[in-house]
Amino acid sequence: MPEAPLTKAETGKLPLIDHLYHPTHDEISRQRLVSAMRKFVLTDMRGKMKSAYDMLEAPAFKARHGHTPRNGREADQAMAKNDVTHFYSSLRYNAQEMVWASVQEPVERALPDMISVARQAAATNPAGGSLTLDPTLEVPRYVSEIDVHLIPGCFHTEHTKDDVAQGAVTAFGGSVFAGGLSWRKDSKGRNGGVGESVAFYLKSKYPDFKPKRILDMGTSSGKNLFPYLDHFPDAEVHGIDVAAPLLRWGHAQAEAYGLPINFSQQNAAHSNFADQSFDLIVSSFFFHELPVKVTRQILAECKRLLRPGGFMFHMELPPHKDLDPFMNFFWDWDTLNNNEPAYTAFRSQNPTALCVEAGFKRENCYEITIPNRATFGDDKFARFIAGEIPAPEHGSGGWYNFGARA
Ligand SMILES: C[S@@+](CC[C@H](N)C(=O)[O-])C[C@H]1O[C@@H](n2cnc3c(N)ncnc32)[C@H](O)[C@@H]1O
Repeated sequence: MPEAPLTKAETGKLPLIDHLYHPTHDEISRQRLVSAMRKFVLTDMRGKMKSAYDMLEAPAFKARHGHTPRNGREADQAMAKNDVTHFYSSLRYNAQEMVWASVQEPVERALPDMISVARQAAATNPAGGSLTLDPTLEVPRYVSEIDVHLIPGCFHTEHTKDDVAQGAVTAFGGSVFAGGLSWRKDSKGRNGGVGESVAFYLKSKYPDFKPKRILDMGTSSGKNLFPYLDHFPDAEVHGIDVAAPLLRWGHAQAEAYGLPINFSQQNAAHSNFADQSFDLIVSSFFFHELPVKVTRQILAECKRLLRPGGFMFHMELPPHKDLDPFMNFFWDWDTLNNNEPAYTAFRSQNPTALCVEAGFKRENCYEITIPNRATFGDDKFARFIAGEIPAPEHGSGGWYNFGARA
């Protein structure tokens, strides 16, 4: 994939808020160590856990129960006393806490300047986007009561006026989180690998589909929304989230990149947009963090908002039904260990059934894993579109998506 460096026009007159962040030599060393720890846990340790499962724990479970584990819960029981699993879990949990701790101090040092740039972006909107915050919006309890992903303060907390700290911690922490794993880039080298891949897929597969209005739900700071404007430059683009600091951060970035995006603080379960006002609704890493009843409300909201012929594409974790017991045990780790209590309940659903329940026709629903564009390469991507080769598995170079055409 050709990688185009950002031009001056793309960074506009507004300083890029990211450039205010200056970790010291020692802070960078610490961040690299944390990225390397995560890579070790998620690749090497995962492989060692799989060997322990295949060679020791699944046969031992069979000796006790007369069958090997039939689902993720039984695989979890089989692995409960396994030493490799304990080592994996403690290393992964500690690495997760260290991700955020490793960026907090440099963010704190730069915070006054970051807030000032975000204010400038909100006052001037040099790229033509907008930021609409709603201080009366009630942040849902499943966000406000826990530190999701173990991020201190979660997504929404504000410690000072016009705070952007959670936006900065999430963004820079996200880079440390994914640092050792090279699959999260968009065509401009930004961390929008999912948006890049889904937008490129839609454009390649449906060349006549030219969305006029695009909405990203649970956009956070919009990193997976930015690539849609690269691929559909004439579209009016909206991103909604309940967390003000993330929206301020994303808006400041987008305005500096020259991307006219309309960020607004809204609950995706009941937005203020008109019926049938979008051609494309997307989300990424969103539903597994919501109680399933909220997922149902949001899919119904998507049905209300989509024009006939419009698409919704939700990148998510693959459901239990698609994976073997070991992989279900592996993915569901976050439910109990990463403050994502809805994770297993979401994965136990049938995404197509949820879409049908929300009012979409079953024959218009899809579940599809799309290659990650940056790592797959455009030649192979074209062969994937032609149906000649499959996408890599979700999490190993592919992104699972579900959705429907209205
Ligand atoms: C894991 S993050 C999503 C990441 C983002 N889509 C990306 O790809 O980088 C989940 C986001 O959903 C937001 N959120 C949770 N419930 C919401 C709701 N009901 N409406 C809108 N946003 C919500 C959270 O504030 C958080 O920013």
